[in-house]
Parts: sequence; C-alpha cells; structure tokens
Amino acid sequence: MIQFDQAEIPIALTYDDVLLVPRRSRVTSRLEVDTSCQLTRKIRLSVPILAANMDTVCEARLARAMAREGGIGVIHRFMPIEQEAAEVRHVKRPEVGTGPRFHTIAPNRTLSEANTLMGRYNVHSLLVVDESGRLMGILTSRDLLFVEEHQRRVAELMTGKDNLVTAPPGTTLDEARRILHEHRIEKLPLVDGEGRLQGLITSRDALRVAEHPRAARDTQGQLLVAAAIGAVGDYLERAAALVEAGVDALVVDIAHGHSDHAIRATERVRERFPEVQLVAGNVATPEGTRDLIAAGADAVKVGVGPGAACSTRIVTGVGVPQLTAVIECSRVAREAGVPVIADGGIRYAGDITKALAAGADSVMIGSLLAGTEESPGETVLRHGARYKVFRGMASVGAAEVRRQLERSADVLDELAAAVVPEGVEAVVVFRGTVAQLLHQLVGGLRSGMSYLDAPDLDTLRSHARFVRISESGWRESKPHDIQLKE
Ligand code: XMP
Repeated sequence: MIQFDQAEIPIALTYDDVLLVPRRSRVTSRLEVDTSCQLTRKIRLSVPILAANMDTVCEARLARAMAREGGIGVIHRFMPIEQEAAEVRHVKRPEVGTGPRFHTIAPNRTLSEANTLMGRYNVHSLLVVDESGRLMGILTSRDLLFVEEHQRRVAELMTGKDNLVTAPPGTTLDEARRILHEHRIEKLPLVDGEGRLQGLITSRDALRVAEHPRAARDTQGQLLVAAAIGAVGDYLERAAALVEAGVDALVVDIAHGHSDHAIRATERVRERFPEVQLVAGNVATPEGTRDLIAAGADAVKVGVGPGAACSTRIVTGVGVPQLTAVIECSRVAREAGVPVIADGGIRYAGDITKALAAGADSVMIGSLLAGTEESPGETVLRHGARYKVFRGMASVGAAEVRRQLERSADVLDELAAAVVPEGVEAVVVFRGTVAQLLHQLVGGLRSGMSYLDAPDLDTLRSHARFVRISESGWRESKPHDIQLKE
C-alpha cells in the first residue's frame, strides 16, 4: 500500500495568497519605469502582455491592437489553416514600408494618364518603373503643375533615378528615418541589387510609427504577431502556412504540454523551421519546462488550470496554483536563458506585478481581453449593460467547433479525450478598447514597480519579497466595509 506522509505534501500558492513588500524607492514617477521584456529568446516587447489564443479573444483585429500598444496577440488555431494564415497576413499587412502601398507608371505614359492615376488612387506621386520593374524615377503632382502639354511623356518631367536617394530592401524604419531627414526628402524607394523597385518608405510612415511609439514591430516596421498550432494532426502543415504568412512566433499550444506528443511536436517544428521563434506549453513543473526547452522551445508557457474559464482542476483534480508554478518553472528556464510566459489567472493589474516578480517574463491574458471592443466574441446586452461572450477552449461549445473543423484521426483522438469538458462558457463585462484596458493594466504594473524601487523588470525580480497573507489579509486588501457606487 502506498502511504503518504501528510507533512511532506508541499503547499502551493497563487496570486491571492501573497503580496509584495514595498521598499524604499528612488523611482519618482511611474512613467520612468521600463516594462520591456523578453517574449522569446529573440523577440523583445515593450509591454509584457500577450493575448490568449482563444476563439473569443484573439484574431487579427485584437492582435493588431495589442501590438500597437506594445504587447502581442496569439491568433487561435480553431479555424481552417488558410484562415489562420489570412489572420496573420492581416496583422502583417503593410502599415508602413513595403508592399502594394505605392503606385507605379511606365516612363512612356503621358502626363494626362499620370494625372488620372494620381486622382484615382488619391496620391501625390507615382514611381516610374520600366517593364522589368526597374526604378527609373519619380513623378510628383508638383512636376505636373503649370504643364500645358498633357501629351508629353512621364520620362520628360520625372526626377530621374540618378537624382533619387534610394535604399536597399530590408532597410529598417530607424535607418529610413535618418536618411529621410539627412536628405530632407519625403520618399525613400527601396531598390534591390538589380535596380528593381521593392518598396517605399515615406515620411508619413515614419510619423505613423511615432503615433504608437511602444508598438511591437519587426525591422520592416510591420506589427508583430504570433499564432498557435496544435501538437497533432495538421500542425506541421499549419506551421508551414503561418511561417509563409510571415508569423513572428509559433505557439505549440496544448493543455498538457509535458506529454510525449507535445515534446515530439516541439522537436519537429524546431527541426522544420529552425528560424522561427517557438513557444511551447503549457506546463506547471520544472521537469516540464526542462523537457520543452530541450525540445527546442524559445519560450515556455506556464499554467495548468488557472484560467478564468478553466475547469481542468475541478474535473481532473490536476494542476498547480499559478504563483508556485511560475516560481518553479522560471527558476529552471532562467538558468537556460529561456523566457517564461505566465498563462492564465490574471484578474487584476496587481496579479501581473506578482507574476513578473515571481519570475515570469510576460503574462498571457484571456478573460480580461475577451471583454474588449476588439475581441471576436459576440456582444450581449443584459439589463442594459454590455457583456461579451467568453469560453474556455475545452468547453462544450468550443469542442463542437473543433469537431466540425478537424477531420484527421489523430485529432479525433484528441477530441475524444475532450469529450469531458474542461472549460466553461460565460460572458464577461465589457471593458472598452484594448488601449484603455492596457492603459489600466500597465499603469498598475508601473506603479507596483515603483513601490519596489524597480526601474525595470529585472530589478523587480531581484527586489521582490513576497509575504503570505491570510484570508483576512486578502479581505483587507480589497475595498471593504463600504457600499460601492453602482
Ligand atoms: P484567463 O484567466 O486570462 O486565462 O482567462 C487564459 C488561459 O486559460 C487557458 N484556457 C483553458 N484552460 N480549459 C482549461 O483548463 C479551457 O477550456 C481553457 N481555455 C483556455 C489558456 O491557457 C488561456 O491562455
């Protein structure tokens, strides 16, 4: 008979069980603190928050809003491969820099045709290219002023390529900004080694970037986005389509990430796509973290059962309270130089401070973000108040969608396991836009960091001292003994 010694069962804690102890601080303003973090080995974010890959949380619209605010969205995988790739392309859609955002004309066209094109596209300049796509010059509306002979050729009035400043494809926005300023020009065509036009960066692009100074962007200035794949069935095909669409990070996402098939999937994706940043999860133990890192993960997602719509712990009896899971997993991940994402259970801004102080590099949020304007969940009105639909990805409704989507035998096996739901369907209160919600969450984090004399997240971790609190301590922590205004 197996015997347990009760005294040997360790206590595991979660966010509500602890508080951070304040310390003498040199930080004079919350705005002084730097919340930037390492999302994966190679990707840095200025705001350490990810949107969860759930079908009522993150599709392209919310992912764009997250990246503009400095975080990142993970597109969920409960849709056909092509659609998920299209969501990624939508986030990567050129806001600035390259892509079909410029209009061209051939040098032998007439000025009258150029005028018509400028009117049709509502632009003030056309790039002049020959039949093999080589840049010949630029024609602006200023060149057309006072011209009376509209049958003259574009080539006669354009500024020729020898008088143009150009840069190679791959020029970063920062470099472009410097070149635009140095030459006092408004347009910087990007031209490859053969003289072919590959893109255009304008001064408006540079200004647009300045509107969202913290935004998460790649070197070309496009917003960052991650996307989820499973660990069985079509996951390699899905990964290939997402990489092709320009995804910045793949997330091998499975409820029990410390399983042979999750580890194998992580290894295979790593092998097939050595360049892509790879997140794997979810785990709740140091052993799980170690195994996913050994399989090739560039970040590990931690959390078994803390999510708002999760019933895993109730249904299966399995899980580790999130603060303990984060402390234990991040200890081994840090030794390996791999960041940890604390996934699930964030209900207040203070929980983010606690998660990061406990060792996580970033947090993943579902239910709070499900309540924003940009989430894909349906809006519901109840007693005059606005709510949005939110559901666990192992809930009955979500499993039904997956069942209809997936045909492969492997996945049906996975679904057979999900017949007993481990998630619930619910509504959450409406929380305004992503920008408004993140303003509150990041504001709380900044304030928490200043209480701990932490100008950055590394210092927050080294200054963190937790105390365990009793239930009365928790009661005292929340507004109490007052009537809250409706
Ligand atoms: P929050 O608390 O931010 O957590 O809503 C989001 C995370 O919850 C996880 N998740 C689930 N866990 N059953 C589970 O046990 C589910 O149906 C389910 N759906 C989502 C997931 O890790 C997500 O990021």
